[in-house]
Amino acid sequence: MTDTPFTNATGAPVAENTNVMTAGPRGPVLLQDIWLIEKLAHFDREVIPERRMHAKGWGAYGSFTVTQDITRYTKAKIFSDIGKRTDIFVRFSSVAGERGAADAERDIRGFSVKFYTEEGNWDIVGNNTPVFFFRDPLRFPDLNHAIKRDPRTGLRSADNNWDFWTLLPEALHQVTIVMSERGIPKSFRHMHGFGSHTFSMINAANERVWVKFHFRSQQGIANLTDAEAEAVVARDRESHGRDLLAAIEAGNLPRWTLMIQVMTEAQAKVHRHNPFDLTKVWPNAEYPLIEVGVLELDRAPDNYFAEVEQAAFSPANIVPGISFSPDRMLQARLFSYGDAQRYRLGVNFNQIPVNAPRCPFRSYHRDGAMRTDGNLGGIVSYHPNTGRIWDDQPAHAEPHVPLEGDAAHHDHRADDDHWEQPGNLFRLMTPTQRQALFDNTARALGDASRHIQERHVANCRRADPAYGDGVATALARLS
Ligand code: HEM
Repeated sequence: MTDTPFTNATGAPVAENTNVMTAGPRGPVLLQDIWLIEKLAHFDREVIPERRMHAKGWGAYGSFTVTQDITRYTKAKIFSDIGKRTDIFVRFSSVAGERGAADAERDIRGFSVKFYTEEGNWDIVGNNTPVFFFRDPLRFPDLNHAIKRDPRTGLRSADNNWDFWTLLPEALHQVTIVMSERGIPKSFRHMHGFGSHTFSMINAANERVWVKFHFRSQQGIANLTDAEAEAVVARDRESHGRDLLAAIEAGNLPRWTLMIQVMTEAQAKVHRHNPFDLTKVWPNAEYPLIEVGVLELDRAPDNYFAEVEQAAFSPANIVPGISFSPDRMLQARLFSYGDAQRYRLGVNFNQIPVNAPRCPFRSYHRDGAMRTDGNLGGIVSYHPNTGRIWDDQPAHAEPHVPLEGDAAHHDHRADDDHWEQPGNLFRLMTPTQRQALFDNTARALGDASRHIQERHVANCRRADPAYGDGVATALARLS
């Protein structure tokens, strides 16, 4: 027995946590053993819904430090001075697997960063790839249905996965990256991150530029082959999480350089692709990377559930000086994350410490399940109010975005080029990298039906004949 009393949730001592109360030494349990009831009832509710995708993940705290002046592009206070430091929380994840999935699987990795700025939380909810499978958000639930478990068998299905991917010509760029040697990063530390979408920055003169965010790993890129990954998974399903925590504990702090690409509004008007198309990159040669600062992770969470599982990132979380773009995928995400989090964590999820802003927040929102912050006390909770307690801030209004055209379901595939960029990526690869792409693709596609394999080979051929031929040869060798 220790001096620290063991209590129930309301603070009363728990006299007995070893033997339930029974009617006689061999009789049934009594309902009045309220500690047993509390313990089981709490246990029964310990599981919350996992994230619909990116369910398996690991987090860490750290900081972002500005190294270069970009105030000509943005008035965001996080970037106001060289040397300025802002606290961050980062969560890395895989996408398709459930919460118990192994880390070292061939998959995209999520790269989410929450910057606790003095003007509110700013989140970049990105991936380790600069592009995505498609550019219309109507496809997103289908992607997840195709890559997750088959509704009849409960098994993952190569047929479903590749049937869907190969029917979307715009997916080839992302599929090429996932099947390349970068498809299984050695650890989270050894991969880059990308905001992927086009965002905007607004400066003090209220001028807008379009930007893309890049996190360049200072550890360098390192990957696992399929065979290496199999060996890792056989002995450790938590390899990436373990690596991250061990590196921080050893003082080997992981770092990324934050860089941006900038496109002016005038450049966007004449850019040869839609600058808001998530399936395309902006070539670095035309839009060079500009250094901004350094992210460093230095502290592991104290409690996985409280901090990592309950973390809620959203592309909708922006601060003055940073904003959205007309990218239709981004626009849909602005709705989807908060909606998922209200369901997954409850309406007051922003009060959970890992999500709470580190600056004052005053929204007039009130009530709702699990309200724990005093609920605004006696302050009136309507606006406008005579006291004008908290009022609009027109100084933060963004410059207008000029729009044109009819409201309609415009066909985003018309007149578009799906093949040039995956072809360019393929042509950049060394012979060894190309062979890895062929073999990885063949192994992943090998269990799909013949006509689906042929459709993929035809798509690859349109990007580069040698790409299609290489995949076809690798498939033939497997059969
Ligand atoms: C997680 C929706 C596209 C990166 C999620 C979640 C939803 C969602 C509902 C779970 C959120 C939660 O429960 O907290 C969508 C929709 C998309 C989309 C509707 C397209 C229309 C993307 C893209 C990226 C991305 C393009 C990367 C560029 C992530 C990441 C997470 C996530 C990293 C995990 C966040 C975390 O670590 O908690 N997505 N997503 N998603 N998504 Fe997306």
